[in-house]
Amino acid sequence: MAMATSVSKAMLLTAFVVAAALSTVSRAQSPLQVNFYSSSCPQAEATVRNVTEGIIVKDRTMGAAFMRLFFHDCFVRGCDASILLDPTSSNPQVEKKAITLRGYDAVNKIKAAVEAVCPGVVSCADILAFAARDTAVVSGGFTTFDMPSGRRDGVVSKLFDVLQNIPSPILKLPDLINNFAAKGLSVDDLVTLSAAHSFGQAHCSFFNGRLYPTVDPTMNATFADGLKMVCPPPGSSGGDPVVSNNGVTDPNVLSNQYYGNMGVGKVLFVSDQQLMTSNYTAAKVANNSEDAATWMGQFAAALVKLGSIQVLTGTAGQVRKYCNVVKS
Ligand code: HEM
Ligand SMILES: *[C@@H]1O[C@H](CO)[C@@H](O)[C@H](O)[C@H]1NC(C)=O
Ligand SMILES: *[C@@H]1O[C@H](CO)[C@@H](O)[C@H](O)[C@H]1NC(C)=O
Ligand SMILES: *[C@@H]1O[C@H](CO)[C@@H](O)[C@H](O)[C@H]1NC(C)=O
Ligand SMILES: *[C@@H]1O[C@H](CO)[C@@H](O)[C@H](O)[C@H]1NC(C)=O
Repeated sequence: MAMATSVSKAMLLTAFVVAAALSTVSRAQSPLQVNFYSSSCPQAEATVRNVTEGIIVKDRTMGAAFMRLFFHDCFVRGCDASILLDPTSSNPQVEKKAITLRGYDAVNKIKAAVEAVCPGVVSCADILAFAARDTAVVSGGFTTFDMPSGRRDGVVSKLFDVLQNIPSPILKLPDLINNFAAKGLSVDDLVTLSAAHSFGQAHCSFFNGRLYPTVDPTMNATFADGLKMVCPPPGSSGGDPVVSNNGVTDPNVLSNQYYGNMGVGKVLFVSDQQLMTSNYTAAKVANNSEDAATWMGQFAAALVKLGSIQVLTGTAGQVRKYCNVVKS
């Protein structure tokens, strides 16, 4: 018991020191710039916006794919597009082998359009950041906002890093807070960014533990019944279907509906519902549920902050030609 306590204190302290160091670094160097490509590729952001919008208009589920790719990229080795790298014979165990994400082909399509106007200039890491911003506009009705850029692409991608850095959907609130703190993100950022679960999809296996053998009492019983119609009990032969993150309103819209859903027990993950377990985060959930405009402002700012995690800039890393392969 004493040992468990000292271990968790040590971990907390480590997370705190890392977070403090990160925020000092990003303030001191301020490595990213708004309109970084204004002279090297003036059409860069408009091209990303055009293609991203076209993809989402054609398949409305794709906004969530772009948003989640950005989160996963930034939480693993920083926002360096390491999530996009394909396995190779010398490096078979890459990040994308750890978790199923959607949108890789779509990102390649955006990159190809950008390469067509300015070859070799715009990084894949910046394309992920712009596409996430543009998703907030197209799928969330946000007024567009500045997304600083100048990120470079990394050359390293390791499956193991995903397991170390991406939070599990069964984490409890203190662990979620520590996970975000290790990236320099606050409790407010956690509450704000979690609303990305207002859109997109989830596999049953990530929340089945809340349905079987008994329904989690913090989940709305009617909502749980609906999920059980789609999700077979673990271990049965029904496979692993997907459901909408938002079972109440349009599941392809990024919005503050997530907070309203949480208040009535209609969110999927343990980690989602955990935001109701402290007075502070529950108050933020209530505020965000009532005030969409304030949440939108906070979400845009938090997305920019997410995009500044451990970035490579200057001459570090490289600019890939194809987002799925390192340039040799
Ligand atoms: C707070 C900790 C978080 C946990 C534990 C978590 C966990 C998950 C899980 C398990 C899924 C289902 C994936 C699947 O079944 O394919 C998911 C989906 C998703 N997550 Fe998160 N997530 C977290 C935070 C975030 C953040 C910060 C963002 C973005 C800002 C985000 C964006 C998304 C999106 C958009 C989807 C739907 C993806 C799709 O439609 O393909 N998540 N998340
Ligand atoms: C915009 O995107 C569409 C596909 O959605 C493409 O056909 C068109 O050429 C693009 N225009 C520009 C200026 O990038
Ligand atoms: C659960 O949701 C149903 C249907 O939306 C609603 O009628 C019911 O009042 C909710 N139950 C609780 C306990 O909130
Ligand atoms: C949360 O608020 C309630 C009442 O408003 C109070 O009784 C309780 O002590 C608070 N809990 C914490 C952990 O602050
Ligand atoms: C919620 O909003 C109220 C009223 O604006 C404010 O006083 C309070 O600090 C907010 N709570 C949180 C946790 O942001």
